[in-house]
Amino acid sequence: MGAKRYQAVKGTRDLLPPETALWAAVEAVARRVFGRYGFGEIRTPIFEDTELFARGVGESTDIVGKEMYSFTDKGGRNVTLRPESTASVCRAYVEHGMQTLPQPVRLFYIGPQFRYERPQKGRYRQFHQIGAELLGGKGAESDAEILLMLVAFLRELGFTDLKVLLNTVGDAESRAEFRRRLVEYLRPHAEALSEDSRRRLDTNPLRILDTKSPEEQKLLAGAPHLEECLTDASRSQFARVQEILDRMGVEYDVSSRLVRGLDYYTNTVFEIVSEGLGAQNAICGGGAYEGLVEELGGPATYGVGFAIGEDRLIEVLPGSFKEKQKLQVGGTVVVRVIGDSAEGLGDARGGLEVAGQELAEELRRAGVPAVSLGDATPAKTYAYAEHVGAPAIVVLGGDELKTGTLTVRTTATRKQETMPREAAFSYLKAFFASFVSSSSS
Ligand code: HAM
Repeated sequence: MGAKRYQAVKGTRDLLPPETALWAAVEAVARRVFGRYGFGEIRTPIFEDTELFARGVGESTDIVGKEMYSFTDKGGRNVTLRPESTASVCRAYVEHGMQTLPQPVRLFYIGPQFRYERPQKGRYRQFHQIGAELLGGKGAESDAEILLMLVAFLRELGFTDLKVLLNTVGDAESRAEFRRRLVEYLRPHAEALSEDSRRRLDTNPLRILDTKSPEEQKLLAGAPHLEECLTDASRSQFARVQEILDRMGVEYDVSSRLVRGLDYYTNTVFEIVSEGLGAQNAICGGGAYEGLVEELGGPATYGVGFAIGEDRLIEVLPGSFKEKQKLQVGGTVVVRVIGDSAEGLGDARGGLEVAGQELAEELRRAGVPAVSLGDATPAKTYAYAEHVGAPAIVVLGGDELKTGTLTVRTTATRKQETMPREAAFSYLKAFFASFVSSSSS
């Protein structure tokens, strides 16, 4: 009997090549686009004090209530694997006194998040977010800036049909009034509500609007609208956000039922959904939060940001981007050696393996990515080249050695050409240089 075999823990997974190259390419685009908007990268710890999330994300949310990976460490600290990063970024903003820097502060992050949710298509327990936060800005203008950057990023990935769903959840005053009216409307129907919703009636009634139950949705059709409870300030802020987005040509749909599952939002909230994902169709969520920094011990600070679910984003990535990425990564050159050491290939001990390794190393030193397959058969060489996406195969045999040439075979066309060694090196160098320059354009 063999030893016990292990599997990745439920809800987690390995990301493997060649897909990881796609992840890296998406992240490279994020860095490039966010950099263009003046955002700098922040890397916060993967775990934080549990209390940070309880206070930041909100005690009554699903995340804090049932989805956190919390544990006590050996020093008796109560810590939690981050379920999201906005609270961490605000904690860091306060901890490092970033309010004394020229405002606003623009930060982005890329990394894993952890939520104990029921795994399904597009939903994992360890998932990845690409997010950004703009802190210390000015209301509607900041909201629009964040949305402009988000849309620019998605466009750069080749998305053409994604719509931003936009709403306002009002300021604290609007929300208190809406909460009061919603509870007043729902209370007499409490019997018809699910247990979850009944509990939320007292803890977080706004979350009842998220219900997936058709009966509850029917009941909610007659419920009061947040819109009716908005203060003048919230109303004009929402109008201003739309005005700026219109002026900048950013498309959106106002979706008055959109609420978000985290407690810190005020005024502008948004989501981006994709039909391709089924039930878990939100690829991005975000919005403004005016009270969070203060809640975490800092000064009153306007904040707005978003987080894209990278796993879901990759799932629905346009084919155009995937194709471009494949071309740009371009794999490696595969070296194949034919002949034997009697022809002067390799030394007596290492033979063809070493001859191939030598040539591959020379290519790498010239900036050409290369691997050697030694004296593999043509069939094996092609199979490998196709597997790693190698655009070319370099063949070195007795003839080439004698004449100081190399034979370069293009994988796609299977056409080959024997050329002087120098010329082959220049050709391959130019070939790969073109990848590098087109991927960073
Ligand atoms: P969120 O809506 O909780 O917002 O998450 C943002 C995105 O993360 C979702 O739209 C989804 O694509 C992805 N996501 C969430 N949970 C999972 C999961 N279990 N598996 C796969 N993907 C998932 C936030 O996290 C806020 N911090 C966003 C924000 C930033 N608001 C302001 N600033």
